[in-house]
Amino acid sequence: MPLIFDYTNLLTGAVGEKAGLSEAEIGKLDGTAEKIIREAEAKWLPFRELPYRDEYAKSVSDLARECAGRFSNLVNLGIGGSSLGGNALVSALAGPQGNHQKVSIFFPENVDPDSFSRLLDSLDLEKTIFSVVSKSGSTAETTAQFLVVRDLLISRFGPGGYRERVVAITDPKKGDLRRLAEEDRLRTLPFPDGVGGRFSVLCPAGLFPAAMAGIDINEVLAGAREMDKRCRVSDLFQNPALLFAILLYLSNNRGRGMVVFWPYSDLLIPAADWFRQLWAESLGKRNSVDGAVVHAGQTPIRAVGVTDQHSQLQLYIEGPRDKVICFLAVNDYRTVVEIPDAGIKIPSFSYLQGKTLNSLIRAEQEATEMSLTKAGRPNCKLVFPRLAAIHLGEYFYLLEVATAFAGTLFQIDPFDQPGVEEGKKLTFGMMGREGYEDKLKELTEWRKRPGKIV
Ligand code: PA5
Repeated sequence: MPLIFDYTNLLTGAVGEKAGLSEAEIGKLDGTAEKIIREAEAKWLPFRELPYRDEYAKSVSDLARECAGRFSNLVNLGIGGSSLGGNALVSALAGPQGNHQKVSIFFPENVDPDSFSRLLDSLDLEKTIFSVVSKSGSTAETTAQFLVVRDLLISRFGPGGYRERVVAITDPKKGDLRRLAEEDRLRTLPFPDGVGGRFSVLCPAGLFPAAMAGIDINEVLAGAREMDKRCRVSDLFQNPALLFAILLYLSNNRGRGMVVFWPYSDLLIPAADWFRQLWAESLGKRNSVDGAVVHAGQTPIRAVGVTDQHSQLQLYIEGPRDKVICFLAVNDYRTVVEIPDAGIKIPSFSYLQGKTLNSLIRAEQEATEMSLTKAGRPNCKLVFPRLAAIHLGEYFYLLEVATAFAGTLFQIDPFDQPGVEEGKKLTFGMMGREGYEDKLKELTEWRKRPGKIV
C-alpha cells in the first residue's frame, strides 16, 4: 500500500457548505491541471531528477560504508535545507527497528553557543566525523560552526586527523566552501547544480546522514520514483501533488491562511518541520512572477499528536476559522507497546488495561479528526502505512512537487528567497565582512531610533 492523501474532510460533504470545498469548485481547476503539469515539466527542475541519479546514491553509500565502519557519531553542520531533510529521514527511519549501524547522527543546526558547545563536549571526538553541508558555501552559521570544529580537530588530531574526520557537501564547482575543501584536501560529495536547499533531501545533502544511520537510501529513492509517476498524471483527482496544491491554494483563497501539519508520531516531527520550511520559504513571496506586489503564502504551523490536543486543539476547534489541518497518520507504528492488565478495577484505569499505546494514539488521531470535522474545521491527512524508507521517499517527493505546483497557482517563484537576503547582509555587516560596511553604517543609524522600553 502506498502513502495516501485523504482529503475527505476538506469537502462540503464532511464539513458543510460554508467551510468545505465542493468537487465542482475543485473540478473548475481541472483544466488548469494539465497546464500546471506541462509548465512544470517545461522548466528545468533539477530536484525532479534526483530520484533517478543513481550515481549520487552510489557515491553516498560507498563513503558512508567506509565512515560508518570507523566512526560512531556523525555531526551534520548545516542549516535550513542543509539540515532539515537529513534530520527528517534519520528521525523517521534510524534506530533499532531499522537497518541500524550504531552511528548516532546529530543535527545541531543552530549557532546557539550553549547547545553547540554542550554537544561538542558530549562527544568522543576520536569516534566522531563531521559533514559540513552548504549549497552556497558561504552561509554564516555553517561556516562559523565549521571553523570551530576545524580548529578543534586540527588541534586535537593534526591536519591529517582533521581531514579524515570531515566530509564537505557543497556545489561541485563553485563557492567558498568548495575552495576551502580543495585547499584542505577534504573528501567531498556534490550538492548538485540547481537543487535548492529545501528541495535537496534526495541528494547527498539528505542521503549522506541517512546512509550513515544505516537507512536504505535506495528504498527512499524508489519511493520518490513511485510518487513521481503519480505526480505526472494529468487527471487532477488521480494526482496527489496537484490535489494537495490545489486544495491548499483554494483553502488559502477562502481565508485559511494557515496550514497546521500535525504528525501523530514523534518520529515524524522533523518531517513536519521539513515541510514547514518548504512551504513557507517557497510560497511566502512579496512579488508575483509578473512583478506585481502580492504578498503570497500560507503560514505552516507544526503541532504534535497527541501532545497538542492538550495545548492547541481548543484553538483549532473554536478559534478563528483561518486554518486548514493536515494530519500525518501512521497505520503501523514501528513498536507495539502493550498496556499491562494489572487487574485494577477503578474506571479510569480498567478500560485501558490490556490495550496498547498503538490503539490509543490511533484512537486519539481519529477522535481529533472527527471532532474537528463535526465543528466544521477542514482537515486532511497523509497516511503512512508504516514508517518505512519507501514511504518517506513518497512523502518528500509528493510535497516537493506539490510546492512547485503551488508556486504556479500562487503565481510566484517557489525557488528563490529574496526576503532573507537583507538579514544576511546586515549580519555580514555586523560581523565585519568586507564589502558590507554600508550595511553596518545603516544598522548603526537604525539603532539610534527612539525606543520605548519598560
Ligand atoms: O532552502 C534554502 O535554500 C535554505 O534554507 C538553505 O538551505 C539554507 O539557507 C542554507 O543554505 P546553504 O546550503 O547555502 O548553506
